[in-house]
Formats: sequence, C-alpha cells, structure tokens
Amino acid sequence: MRKRVGVLVSGRGSNLQALLDACADPAFPAEIVLVISNIPGVFALERAEKAGIATRVIPHKGFASREAFDAEMDRELRAAGIEIVCLAGFMRLLSADFVTSWRDRMINIHPALLPSFKGLHTHRRAIEAGVKLHGCTVHLVTADLDDGPILVQDAVPVLAADTEDTLAARVLEREHKAYPLALRLLAEGRVTVEGNRALIRDE
Ligand code: GRF
Repeated sequence: MRKRVGVLVSGRGSNLQALLDACADPAFPAEIVLVISNIPGVFALERAEKAGIATRVIPHKGFASREAFDAEMDRELRAAGIEIVCLAGFMRLLSADFVTSWRDRMINIHPALLPSFKGLHTHRRAIEAGVKLHGCTVHLVTADLDDGPILVQDAVPVLAADTEDTLAARVLEREHKAYPLALRLLAEGRVTVEGNRALIRDE
C-alpha cells in the first residue's frame, strides 16, 4: 500500500510540484492525498488542483491561537487518513502538541546544510559567511526549528559571482531531488531514529 501523504504549503510550491511529480509514478511508495495551505490563493494550491489533489485552505489568521490552528490542521489530516506529513515551504511555526503527534512521520525541507544556517535568508547568510559549499537538508521535524534527524542532504558550490538569487536557484534544483528521495526512504519504512541520527537501511 502506498503511504498517504499530506503536504503543508504557504507559497509557490515548487517542492510540492517535485513531490507531485514523483508520486505520479504508480511505483512510488507514497501518494499525496491532501494539500493544506494557510494562505489563500497561493500558486501551490493551483499545482495541487491541476494534479487532481484535494486542497484545503485554513487561514491561520482566523484562529485565536497557534494551538487552535494546528488542531484544525490535525483534524483535516486525520480525516484524510494521512500517514506522513511533508512541510513544503510552510511558513508557520508548529505547536509542540502537533509536532509530538506527528513525530517521526513529519518531514521538512530546509535550504541550507543543517545545522548551519537555520532560519530565514539562508542563501544571503551563506554568501556573507563565505562558505564554499551550501545546499539543502530534508529532516524529521522536532520541537526545535530546523532541527531533527537528517534524512537527506545535497551540496552545491558557492561561486564568487553568486547573488542570493543565483545561489538559491542552484540549491532549489537539488531540493527538488532531495525531497522526493527523503519521502521515498520514509515511506519505504527504511528510517530508524537513534537519538539525533536517522539511520537509513540499505543505503
Ligand atoms: C524552499 O526553498 C524550501 O527549502 C523552504 O522554502 C522554500 C519553498 O519553496 N523551506 P517552494 O514553495 O517549495 O517553491
């Protein structure tokens, strides 16, 4: 049975698209059944609709607290029988209860080689820091922002002429390969967590 996946988005959804494309192969071990956005009208929703996937907009502004908003997302995910949650450019912090209830079943993609450059503006900060390698990380989500056991990383060179935009584009290409790979590993049940490490069977 293919694992049922819910994707949380807030924006353009290019990583969602990479996941949709991977899941379009019937041999892929996961299928996307629901896409939730906290922002109405974003391009990610159009991508989901075009692929024939159910969407739900849950505007966070309509909720009294982060916990109430997360509880509504949780209800939707469970009602759809979701087994794995992918954060794909989802720009909201998640409450501890939500993170705990999806522990080891929720993954995020971050545009940097963690644990370097957690948070925002990773490409600008990488250029400013003068690092020669930059990249992306897919990790299991834990209570701390951009933390949690790492499933997949990929690196690209930082070139002398790079701007934030050229570096972002080089990293994004790798994101679109790393995210489907990480989802595959998790969906195939090949991931075991030991402390801070994710061990991948047969890698
Ligand atoms: C990506 O760079 C991802 O790593 C980060 O947010 C961005 C989302 O882009 N978490 P997109 O919406 O997937 O195009």
